[in-house]
Amino acid sequence: MAEIKIIGVLGSGQMGSGIAQIAAMHGIDVYLLDTDPQALSRATDSISASIRRLVSRGHLSQAAGTDAMRHLRCTSNLEELHQADFVIEAIVESEDVKKTLFLQLDKITKSSAILASNTSSISITRLASSTRRPHQVIGMHFMNPPPIMKLVEIVKGADTSDETFAATKALAERLGKTVITSQDYSGFIVNRILMPMINEAFFTLYTGVATKEDIDKGMKLGTNHPMGPLELADFIGLDVCLSIMKVLHAGLGDNKYAPCPLLVQYVDAGRLGRKRGIGIYDYRKVPKSAKL
Ligand code: NAI
Repeated sequence: MAEIKIIGVLGSGQMGSGIAQIAAMHGIDVYLLDTDPQALSRATDSISASIRRLVSRGHLSQAAGTDAMRHLRCTSNLEELHQADFVIEAIVESEDVKKTLFLQLDKITKSSAILASNTSSISITRLASSTRRPHQVIGMHFMNPPPIMKLVEIVKGADTSDETFAATKALAERLGKTVITSQDYSGFIVNRILMPMINEAFFTLYTGVATKEDIDKGMKLGTNHPMGPLELADFIGLDVCLSIMKVLHAGLGDNKYAPCPLLVQYVDAGRLGRKRGIGIYDYRKVPKSAKL
């Protein structure tokens, strides 16, 4: 496999912007694409703020920070990805939307390019089946936030080749990550275990067993988790948690994976967590006029 010089990152939300940032900080040219121009402008602001923070704390030199920003290019034009050696898709967690994108990517990108998905739970084998290069399709699951979390979970689809796996592992390691490998079953390793716990925390709240604060405090102080499960759900995005639970439920066929009605209701209400300012907790600033 030739050296990876240009990466395309699709979706400039929480995950795509973080993945683009670490790739740019490792000297790789990045095309960061989103269909929503506002998402692209939010991503540019958050990447440059994050790089400024790293520089001000002495984790990155000023020159390296400037260089990282030079490696980053934002676009809404999918055609620009024809130059990419490696593509990482991080758009909305919907199988249909991802499949449509993989179909387009297969037509646009060069035949040697690897198409990776950052999906949390959707079958890589099924995404690969919408392309003519299933041996070059793979799961590359970064954790949130990508610049900080050390893990990348690599998921091999039924047809993923050993060469594709080796190139993806080498890229993850070049980005300073530690790799674990999962077979292609719903939720892979991390979300297969994490999401039922978060769902159970919603059931614990829904059935009135305890307050949200005590559920989170219980898991933080009782099991040494850095964040409580409800706090973590707000951080991940309640819509993302619900999509993953639906995939686990459909893919593993057991009622124990049925999403909690309270989680469904929060998503219906648009209370998606930190990214919307409100989820289980309210992150909106109280206006000065409302204070006594
Ligand atoms: P997000 O909602 O923050 O961002 C998704 C972005 O994709 C949005 O900016 C949206 O405009 C864009 N988008 C939607 N359709 C598109 C298309 N057809 N072409 C280009 N851009 C499109 O979502 P987030 O949280 O970044 O998740 C993205 C992916 O990463 C999902 O598959 C999710 O399951 C996965 N993931 C999420 C984690 C989390 O903690 N939020 C952790 C690990 C993986």
